[in-house]
Amino acid sequence: MKKILSTLMFFLTCSFTFAQSAAPMLLGKNHAMKRVAVTGRYLLLPVQEREDNATIRILADNQQVQKLNVRLAVDKVDYYVPLDVKRYGLDEVTLDITFHGDRRFTGAMKDFLCWREMKQSDSFDTRNCEKYRPQYHHTPLYGWMNDPNGMFYKDGVYHLYYQWNPYGSMWENMTWGHSTSRDLIHWEAQPTAIEPDALGDIFSGSCVVDKKNNRVVAFYTSAAERMQTQSMAVSEDNGQTFRKYSGNPVLWSTEEDFRDPKAFWNPEIQKWNLILAVGQHMNIYSSNNLKDWTYESSFGGAETDGPNGKETLGCHDGVWECPDLIKLQVRGTDRQKWLLICNINPGGPFGGSATQYFVGDFDGHKFTCEHKDTRWMDYGKDHYATVTFDNAPDGRHIALAWMSNWQYGNQVPTKQFRSANSVPRDLDLFEYDGQTYCGVTPSRELLALRGKEIKKVPQAGEIVVDVKGSLELTLSNTLGEQVVMAYDAARKTFSMDRTRSYASFSENFPCKTTAPVYGDIKQLRIFIDNSSIEVFDAEGRLSMTNLVFPQEPYSNLRIVGGKATMYSLKINE
Ligand code: FRU
Repeated sequence: MKKILSTLMFFLTCSFTFAQSAAPMLLGKNHAMKRVAVTGRYLLLPVQEREDNATIRILADNQQVQKLNVRLAVDKVDYYVPLDVKRYGLDEVTLDITFHGDRRFTGAMKDFLCWREMKQSDSFDTRNCEKYRPQYHHTPLYGWMNDPNGMFYKDGVYHLYYQWNPYGSMWENMTWGHSTSRDLIHWEAQPTAIEPDALGDIFSGSCVVDKKNNRVVAFYTSAAERMQTQSMAVSEDNGQTFRKYSGNPVLWSTEEDFRDPKAFWNPEIQKWNLILAVGQHMNIYSSNNLKDWTYESSFGGAETDGPNGKETLGCHDGVWECPDLIKLQVRGTDRQKWLLICNINPGGPFGGSATQYFVGDFDGHKFTCEHKDTRWMDYGKDHYATVTFDNAPDGRHIALAWMSNWQYGNQVPTKQFRSANSVPRDLDLFEYDGQTYCGVTPSRELLALRGKEIKKVPQAGEIVVDVKGSLELTLSNTLGEQVVMAYDAARKTFSMDRTRSYASFSENFPCKTTAPVYGDIKQLRIFIDNSSIEVFDAEGRLSMTNLVFPQEPYSNLRIVGGKATMYSLKINE
């Protein structure tokens, strides 16, 4: 009896403590507060992806210290995200939570699962637990990622910042995450670089290495609800931490889509230039001090100088985003030309997002394009927001893309993280049939990974194909899922067909992507990494990047019209 009583007492005490700590203060139909006695470093917030966002204002000592949006769990937990509650240095914080969405679908707020499922912990487990996470591509440890941002090289280290949601694996709470690498392959996660503030969320941008002043300067878009302005932040510790400039914003406009500043030093005019996406054109600015910017010209609208005078150039079926402007060598010549990179969404050749480019001349004030046709840097469906590293060594121009597409980026079948970057690629220019095109070659750091020849289709590896005329290569698994790559030597096209791949998460995912081929293909390099396939030709004249989500790994390779050799990659050496 005594035993029964004490057991009962135990449960009561437990449920009492539990109820006490779990219960929110209900303030209205959609509004509640929850006090949190800080016992661990992190408050683990339970996320349910199909729910609407809840806005959480974090109050510390009566002040709002942070605001974020999280899809708090209502009746099921998909995963947890860590909120660092120790950083405020207090024993208690209050979460002021407003739920959005229709309560008819979710029932009464007091019953939401999130109240019971919020936990505290001193650690957060970021070990990989998903089959689709790539092995040699950069991914965030957890959370959503889109565009690569602020990439620069300094003192032997490549810095990659990225559009990041630290509080969920769907787009939200834009923050600059940060990773570093010495070889563009192995990346190390760094502390958060730039967080949202009163001017807005931190959208895409760039960094420059300001050698004269021994500092790194970041430019990013401050994105508020109906306003996009450009801000600047300075790092005196090689990009580890940034101090936001007190005079922000440094560029503003009445235009709604006004974003993604890419700054660079232009030795030809001994000034800084900055290129910015505005609606469906690019603005170009110059500056002596990185703070005061003079408008120079715009490119891409009706008033653009092209080969036939003033005309509208390129694809305009979507918003222009994430520009870059670099001077590149024309292969095999001593000439150089400028390349203007223009990411566009939607409007890509296979729907949604893609990277177009323009070849021409730039005198520090104005960019003039030399061709009339629309050109794409990569003819896959998962290559977006491509920009290059500032200050890369040996005169290299190394690009990274976000390996996804806005049509389904938020729905791809991963949870702990969402999205990877492409493999690094070196850009140059090549001539074909009297025209100059952008050349794309997998960076030498990647090529150096080639390991042993293997007999099994690699889940993360390289396939080298020696091509003799037309070719068809099929990768398939025991479930009948397949992806088919084909080179048509007569039509001069290369295609990848993933219409028979797993795609239940989006109707926009199945597709066949087709690229024009400039000159005969002799060899193909195919990089597979659990959920992506990137194809390059050995001459650097073709690139095609597509995601695939085989429910079982591809185990079978069938080739007609060529010879395939499979290699492991020395990823962990
Ligand atoms: C491109 C983009 C940018 C913007 C960022 C927001 O993918 O839309 O234009 O700065 O994403 O995350």
